[in-house]
Amino acid sequence: METNPTEDRTGVLLDARLVTLDGAGGYTVIEDGALAWREGRIDYAGARDAMPATFLQRVRLSAEGALVTPALIDCHTHLVFAGNRATEFEMRLQGATYEEIARAGGGIVSTVRATRAASEEALLAASLPRARALLAEGVTCIEIKSGYGLDFETERRMLRVARRLGEELGVAVRTTFLGLHALPPESSADRAGYVSAVCDDWLPRLAAEGLVDAVDAFCEGIGFTPDEVRRCFEAARHLGLPVKLHAEQLSDLDGAALASGFGALSADHLEWLSERGVAAMARSGTAAVLLPGAFYALRETRQPPIDALREAGVALAVASDLNPGTSPMPSLRLAMNQACVLFRLTPEEALRGVTTHAAQALGLAGERGALKAGFVADFLLWPCAHPAELAYWIGSHPRPRVFVAGQARND
Ligand code: NIG
Ligand code: FE
Repeated sequence: METNPTEDRTGVLLDARLVTLDGAGGYTVIEDGALAWREGRIDYAGARDAMPATFLQRVRLSAEGALVTPALIDCHTHLVFAGNRATEFEMRLQGATYEEIARAGGGIVSTVRATRAASEEALLAASLPRARALLAEGVTCIEIKSGYGLDFETERRMLRVARRLGEELGVAVRTTFLGLHALPPESSADRAGYVSAVCDDWLPRLAAEGLVDAVDAFCEGIGFTPDEVRRCFEAARHLGLPVKLHAEQLSDLDGAALASGFGALSADHLEWLSERGVAAMARSGTAAVLLPGAFYALRETRQPPIDALREAGVALAVASDLNPGTSPMPSLRLAMNQACVLFRLTPEEALRGVTTHAAQALGLAGERGALKAGFVADFLLWPCAHPAELAYWIGSHPRPRVFVAGQARND
């Protein structure tokens, strides 16, 4: 995708059927809507007849009656990696569990081997098509985690590739350091040494290079204990970095409550989340990131406690979890559909899950995820009659026209 250099970053879009997602009141469509932006930021979104007349002097575009929504945000991906795990997929279909494969030296560690062997250019080349697939669906802000290096140089290389993807595609990338993803084989006799290298050495060095926007960990029997995660979160807090956590995916270790105690932006997965965890997340304003792709691919049966989260007023975000092990799914649109079908979100909740609530899960609630004055002018034009269609179609159909900072992006 290329940016059209002749286009101005200041303009106005008319004849739009606007879904602003501004405020809590449903996803009402403003039938004769207008959207105006200046230097890539929205300065008006609403009814055309209420727009200041001077905005009409700008470069004018017509949406021709298309549905206009904020651009989508994928707030949980591991899309930088080398190789794939199709053979493990076959093993799981023959009865092996994700945990058994991990304990036998496969799983995350097998992707670590492939990723360590890949150069920065090879990693970039492998990851670009996955990021492009998201962008073609309307995703203009992507969170990307490290965690397939598990040594300093490879973690650094992954984060550098994540930043380069953002530059290459002209989209926003938020990087997350996931040093505590799995214990690398060379540290199997020294867990404490590994945790301390991650927290006291790698994290501050990577943060000093500007490569870390947030810190995550995998709190699980096959990952890290709550005490090890706490250690990591203390190091993040010391550096002023926000945290998030893979919590309660395969068992209940009370990870979401631990993360909430650190004011985490989000706790993710949550199939085994307890009432206590729900209450802790509600208190701290921690978003729940639902990852139905991993639930689907692992043939899980236990659902996250959606009703309890909803009743407690926890923001429900939805993400692809794009990764080679549990969610080889380069489609946020499919995740929206799965969130409805598998977790019974409403289509409106699914849309909020990939816009306003996804922004919250990345600490970007004040600038992305809604069409509102002051927000980034990233928006989508959909050939759709009703916003429920975005979650209704299974997969990436229909494709939107994508605008980034007010500029049309063309394939
Ligand atoms: O979000 N649960 C841990 N991390 C990833 C899976 C990573 C992998 O299996 O490669 C997840 O599901
Ligand atoms: Fe994940």
